[in-house]
Amino acid sequence: MYRVAVLVGSTRQTSSNLKLARALEKLAAGKLAFNYIRIDNLPFYDEALWDDPPAEVIRLKREIAEADAVLFVTPEYNRSIPGILKNAIDWPSRPYGDSVWSGKPAAIAGATGGVSGTAAAQAHLRSILPMTGIALMGTPEVYFQSRPGSIEDDYTIADERMRTNLSIWVDRFSDWIGRFAEPREATEELRKTA
Ligand SMILES: Cc1cc2nc3c(=O)[nH]c(=O)nc-3n(C[C@H](O)[C@H](O)[C@H](O)COP(=O)(O)O)c2cc1C
Repeated sequence: MYRVAVLVGSTRQTSSNLKLARALEKLAAGKLAFNYIRIDNLPFYDEALWDDPPAEVIRLKREIAEADAVLFVTPEYNRSIPGILKNAIDWPSRPYGDSVWSGKPAAIAGATGGVSGTAAAQAHLRSILPMTGIALMGTPEVYFQSRPGSIEDDYTIADERMRTNLSIWVDRFSDWIGRFAEPREATEELRKTA
């Protein structure tokens, strides 16, 4: 089992991206333990704040550092990622030379009501992340068009074909993480989240 830090680029409670993350978590039960990382209480990036770093920034860096892998689940805002997610990527990449992203296996997913399924946002994210030193999985990709009922209340993906594809995606992500990290024992603590 691997511990995955999950960053969702939308803070609203009814977020379709949070729902997608929960659906992936369900498909990954017993393989990946998701830890949802809070990003809505971070200050905007300010280099001067490193003189006395905010507790939220220290906490964010620690949670990323402790994870075996990272999953970004992003909405698409004007053909890019939301600013809140970019801010949460920038903080852990600093101070210079002390990025906690370095060498961390990662993957991307995203949901939108639009037919593109966040393809443009994910393409932007793919151009940003290599700068942080993160080890990003290339394929398979997840482009999810969110519709009423496409994810059920218990986080089951309604469409069988999509469910199968996302299940394969979970396995491939797990394999990807295995190239970088040793699996953890499925302790009670991890089982709680998986
Ligand atoms: C400022 C803004 C810009 C948006 N731009 C796009 C866009 O470029 N492409 C797209 O597919 N959806 C776009 N949307 C729609 C979002 O993808 C949609 O609201 C999505 O459900 C937000 O994610 P969430 O449900 O996780 O909050 C935009 C929404 C907002 C608020």
